Amino acid sequence: MARIEVPTVDDIHRVGRAIGEHAMPGDLVMLNGPLGAGKTTMTQGIADGLGVSEQVSSPTFVIAHIHPGRFDLVHVDAYRLESMDELDALDLDASLEDSLTVVEWGAGKVESLTGSRLEIDIERPVGGDADLDPEDLGADEPRILTLRPHGERAEALADAIRSAVPDLVERT
Ligand SMILES: Nc1ncnc2c1ncn2[C@@H]1O[C@H](COP(=O)(O)OP(=O)(O)OP(=O)(O)O)[C@@H](O)[C@H]1O
Ligand SMILES: [Mg+2]
Repeated sequence: MARIEVPTVDDIHRVGRAIGEHAMPGDLVMLNGPLGAGKTTMTQGIADGLGVSEQVSSPTFVIAHIHPGRFDLVHVDAYRLESMDELDALDLDASLEDSLTVVEWGAGKVESLTGSRLEIDIERPVGGDADLDPEDLGADEPRILTLRPHGERAEALADAIRSAVPDLVERT
């Protein structure tokens, strides 16, 4: 487990890029955190690292977006899914074994899917956005990431993140 401080959007993009650059087909990343935590923002960095050139936005209304890159990025919003079986039932145009799957709102739903997964909790330190004027909501605000790797592939991704942003890893 490692804690990483990401003061700016640029920093969370750097973390995401490290994931995208080191990902292998079949990898699964779960992004956990409340509304507006930065899950989609992180996914944009992941897409960049994977060589995706199209714009990545929230898949809220369609449940999953597939973005071609070095290999496919499957970006899932599991908010309205009960389980990953329902994702299978969507009959996506990509197979998860050949893709990097990034899931928002997947806690309690996708753990059974694969042997290995990297869970990342994204937290806003207390006193953050809550005090901001609505027009400043896009401004940089610190986030704390907690990496919870499960399995060998996830450990490798967590190592890649730590090496890519040594300046952000919290010293304890
Ligand atoms: N350090 C930071 N890391 C991530 N996002 C940040 C940061 N600072 C400011 N932001 C802003 O916070 C917002 C995060 O929104 P985003 O859509 O990524 O959240 P989300 O977790 O995907 O939300 P939802 O639950 O609605 O899907 C963006 O507007 C982003 O610019
Ligand atoms: Mg989102």
